[in-house]
Amino acid sequence: MKRLPAPFRIKMVEAVRETTQAEREQALSVAGYNPFQLRGEDVYIDLLTDSGTGAMSDRQWAAMMQADESYAGSRSYFRLQETVARLFGYAYMVPTHQGRGAEHVLFPCLVERARATRGATDPVFISNYHFDTTAAHVELTGAQALNALTRRAFDTASYDPWKGNFDLDRVETLIEMHGPRNVVAIVTTVTCNSSGGQPVSLANMKAVYELAQRHGIPVVIDSARFSENAFFIKSREADYANASITEIVAQMYRCGDMLTMSAKKDAMVNIGGLVCIREDRELFDAVRSRCVLMEGFVTYGGLAGRDLEAIAQGLVEAVDETLLAYRVAQVERLYSRLDEAEVPVQRPCGGHAVFVDAARMLPHVPAEAFPALALANEIYVSGGVRGVEIGSLLLGRDPKTGRQKPSPFELLRLAIPRRTYTNDHMDYVADVLIAAKGRAAGLRGYAFEEEPPTLRHFLARFRPLT
Ligand code: F0G
Repeated sequence: MKRLPAPFRIKMVEAVRETTQAEREQALSVAGYNPFQLRGEDVYIDLLTDSGTGAMSDRQWAAMMQADESYAGSRSYFRLQETVARLFGYAYMVPTHQGRGAEHVLFPCLVERARATRGATDPVFISNYHFDTTAAHVELTGAQALNALTRRAFDTASYDPWKGNFDLDRVETLIEMHGPRNVVAIVTTVTCNSSGGQPVSLANMKAVYELAQRHGIPVVIDSARFSENAFFIKSREADYANASITEIVAQMYRCGDMLTMSAKKDAMVNIGGLVCIREDRELFDAVRSRCVLMEGFVTYGGLAGRDLEAIAQGLVEAVDETLLAYRVAQVERLYSRLDEAEVPVQRPCGGHAVFVDAARMLPHVPAEAFPALALANEIYVSGGVRGVEIGSLLLGRDPKTGRQKPSPFELLRLAIPRRTYTNDHMDYVADVLIAAKGRAAGLRGYAFEEEPPTLRHFLARFRPLT
């Protein structure tokens, strides 16, 4: 098993408290058996998300102290803009408060433009897989969010190095079915969070971009975990084994016309996002107008100057190959221990998380009783570890029929914050999961006690089934 020591040492620490099982049972019951409703303080090791939970570096903190808080034209804005232009090759940028802010600013402009210039009447977006807020923002514009992920991703037991790839035939079929003029954009999500932090190959990104260009469809790169994707390209795609991460990133972004980014992941800040556009000045002007209203003036976009500095420095650190190698090795450490103990996981290991296949681990719990929630609650009670359900609960109901949408997955995501936990923590988490596997046959599902009409996975309350 690969065990890379961290390429950093620790200058500041934050205590975490290990509670007793009785305390956790009580906390979970108060939370209505919904891990989103737990207090952070009641969690020992928090793998709910890798978003905004990373540890910033001394250089990021130092840069924050030197920020320019000018309302308009801040020096920190220009530093960030130069960093972005250097890394991605995109000339235009607006900051936003986080990734969904970027989606909220950009997507309506794209829909409007598709209606005005291409005669779109029934707009759709096509993605390898829309993240949930991304799909929600697409739907907010009145468009449909369609996914065209490789079918191999749905078989968690089989190995495939590119489980984030588009199914190119399906993309073509969707374009034909809806008509190119109705396809507002293709959204390439790197890495593909929903299938397990799985990468998209450069070959696939290039093929998608060519296809899009042939039909005059713009490509948006959803960039939350762009550098982890670049690292996988370097390690798994033979043509790029000798390329540097920055060279690979530059090539990835030639396969797109614009990007949205949640800077809370690979850019390792607690808050922030970006919209960047390669060269389309008209679109940039439309985006800027929306930004002023929705996020704030165009040179700060809902962030403080110090946040812009932290993102600029974070982006530089995000493409540090040594740091990426350590990062992925830490995720792989947890993955390998689980895989060796025959805990069913999405194969191979993803970039930011280990995804446990709860449908395979708890085959006696049907999808409508939320097996991944059952497993999440079990590891919280037994070990104080918090993960998140990615399955039927997250997917929700069809708004038209009110019926549960059929989910291709019932996964428990253990997302690993960057530079936050040690490998000892990973071993502890593995021990908790492996012990839970021994009790799997006795675990029960959940039913709704209260089910809110929207965003139910955040707010719902449950009761354990007996
Ligand atoms: N796109 C992807 C691929 C994401 O994973 C996320 C967030 C967003 C967009 C939205 O960004 O949170 O900054 O508004 N994912 C987080 C997660 C929340 O836990 O995976 P945001």
